Amino acid sequence: MGESGEKRMFEQPLSRRDALKLAGMGGLGLLLGAGGGAALAGVRSATASKPEAGGAGDVIPFYGPVQAGIVTPAQDFVCLGAFDLTAADIGEVRQLFQAWTRASARLVRGEGAGEESGNSLLPPADTGEAMGLLAAKTSITFGLGVSFFDQRYGLAAKKPKELADLPPFGGDELRPEWSGGDVVVQVCAGDPQVAFHALRNLTRIARGKAVLRWVQEGFQRTGAADPKGATPRNLMGFKDGTNNPDVSDKKTADEVVWVQPSDGPGWMAGGSYMVMRRIRMRIEVWDRTTLADQEATFGRHRVSGAPLGAHNEFDPVEPEKKDAKGKPLMPADSHVALAHMDGKVRIHRRGYSYSNGVDLKTGQLDAGLLFICYNRTPSAQFIPMQAKLGAMDALNEYIVHVGSGLYACLPGVKEGGYIGDTLF
Ligand code: HEM
Repeated sequence: MGESGEKRMFEQPLSRRDALKLAGMGGLGLLLGAGGGAALAGVRSATASKPEAGGAGDVIPFYGPVQAGIVTPAQDFVCLGAFDLTAADIGEVRQLFQAWTRASARLVRGEGAGEESGNSLLPPADTGEAMGLLAAKTSITFGLGVSFFDQRYGLAAKKPKELADLPPFGGDELRPEWSGGDVVVQVCAGDPQVAFHALRNLTRIARGKAVLRWVQEGFQRTGAADPKGATPRNLMGFKDGTNNPDVSDKKTADEVVWVQPSDGPGWMAGGSYMVMRRIRMRIEVWDRTTLADQEATFGRHRVSGAPLGAHNEFDPVEPEKKDAKGKPLMPADSHVALAHMDGKVRIHRRGYSYSNGVDLKTGQLDAGLLFICYNRTPSAQFIPMQAKLGAMDALNEYIVHVGSGLYACLPGVKEGGYIGDTLF
């Protein structure tokens, strides 16, 4: 939509008081106009349909060679939604992805989802709850589920062979309301309201073309509680993410995460496969086990996060190491000893804790891990790893997998293009 001649609802300038309030909240560089108007970089400001250049460092660009939200350092919150398509044909699916692209590029800059018409007889283009809020490092990542490639849109021949239903794993109790979906949208942000706002507006834009199948929200500790950004702890009290591969290193990311041109299909080059597992923790049972049992279950010390028998969190994981009596320091069925896979199979974990109130059947907390990982070749990475864990992991006594999904996350989009344009 063109901007000229249109009166946007966002166009009333911020009052000086509001601007100062925002500056106080975000500590941002603030440009106060002589008339009291303000333009804030990376802030959903009343004036800014385009943000000022050189933002507040909290804007993660939407456009780029790969999608953001995959090797991007994990923000504090996730709002993950799966959609089922109701679009009549492939043309409508394409229109949806184009509209999602336009809105996403705005949302990650801290703008409203669309240009406001200013016509008070129409509903606003944006739902409004993020007005005045920072972009908060929002990333929006799109992936396609197995069912996207069924007969409906004539794309079956383009389905990657790696995008197949995951096999059943030991201990699965999967529920349809937490599984599958034609399209997954992962919104991550440093603020839960900003994350929710983005998913809500993308859902609104999808009206008539796609409906929500499920939404799952997740959290970590925030910078307010942990300004130094140590490894976050999961709801079992252990540091989680310590031995993730260093995907800031391009070579490692290419090896572990990004689909390479030689892997095929061509339209997935620069994409990645996301696995989602909603893993409920039997928290109350866990809380009654001894510290020694808990540590033996993971194979790491609780306080330091060090591998059993070692002292520091980042000491190497060496499941073959034995004590003086020849007993492995790290039990062979411990989570880390098994997931280590001889150091040869790696995935990039990017999960969040979830808490979903009380399970009314048992009166226990419904909480756990919204496990999200990215990998280049699920058949050689996530699948053999989870097969091993599902069969033998000591942790299985305390967890149950209740949701699941595998999604082909598309390559990045160039400005002017749209998400999925390599496929359509
Ligand atoms: C509720 C379920 C789970 C919990 C609470 C959990 C927790 C942990 C913890 C505390 C660690 C040690 C610290 C670290 O290196 O991050 C760890 C390591 C790891 N986990 Fe999990 N995890 C869970 C599920 C899974 C699943 C489903 C997979 C993949 C199939 C997985 C793969 C790994 C890997 C690859 C490592 C690193 C192993 C190594 O050191 O080489 N985890 N997990």
